[in-house]
Amino acid sequence: MAIFFDCSPGMDRYVVIGNPVAHSLSPIIHAMFAAQAGDSLTYDRLLVERGEFMRAARAFFGEGGCGASITLPFKVDAFDFADARSDRATRAGAANFLMRRGDTIFADNTDGAGLVADLTRNLGVALHGKQVLLVGAGGAARGVLGPLLDAQVARVVIANRTVERARALAELFAASGRVEGCALDAIAPAAFDVTLNATSASTHGESLRLPDAVFGPSTLAYDLAYGPAARAFIQHARALGALASDGLGMLVEQAAEAFALWRGKRPSTALVLAQLRAGQE
Ligand code: ATR
Repeated sequence: MAIFFDCSPGMDRYVVIGNPVAHSLSPIIHAMFAAQAGDSLTYDRLLVERGEFMRAARAFFGEGGCGASITLPFKVDAFDFADARSDRATRAGAANFLMRRGDTIFADNTDGAGLVADLTRNLGVALHGKQVLLVGAGGAARGVLGPLLDAQVARVVIANRTVERARALAELFAASGRVEGCALDAIAPAAFDVTLNATSASTHGESLRLPDAVFGPSTLAYDLAYGPAARAFIQHARALGALASDGLGMLVEQAAEAFALWRGKRPSTALVLAQLRAGQE
């Protein structure tokens, strides 16, 4: 792919591309990071029709755009669009990050690193040796599985409504650690250290049924979604005595990773996360 324009001159331009995208907090987060770094840049939302990703991304970078965050449903399109890909994007099979590097576009996936950073740094969960239940076997689950295994957890059980997808995902990552797949209704009734909801059940207005026993008093129940989409899972887990968090911290941490790659400066996330949490209340 030939991209003819340099990232400069003028204000450096970034976007988040998705559909829908109006709800995205990424522009606010990156504005706060840019203020911290003392950088002048623009970061806007770019709503793209399904089937139009390639054209829109080519136009954005062709007009001098520096980088893009990618959200649903375009993470696989972004992976395909790039000329070069990081190992973690390749393992995820999807990209949430694009960046111009000279005349080429580089793709990465910062979701898993964002989740691990939120769990370990913000929520104080040392993942080493932990038993992890990962519910869901779609793109969101695949995006975080590699970094979870790299964090030296003892075991990841992938539980999915469609058991074949859970088993296929476990197979794909078998070389990276102890990982197994099972059906949602075949989860062993024992408490996990960390139970992650990576399904899209709530976005379809459906409830997720898990055995009560997977939530113990020291379980951290974590929904990769944030805001209203995470509410039912969190409330259910808390009612059963578990600790619970939504994925707002993951969103901020994956954005910090992206900002560091784009700008060469790693922003501090604590204040940004605290401000967003205050805005949610
Ligand atoms: P994403 O990229 O958000 O992960 P996806 O690839 O469509 O989206 O995957 C959605 C995941 O949520 C899948 O694991 C899906 O289960 P299936 O593979 O059986 O479709 C899961 N999911 C969606 N609705 C669900 C529900 N009501 N109960 C349980 N799992 C559900």
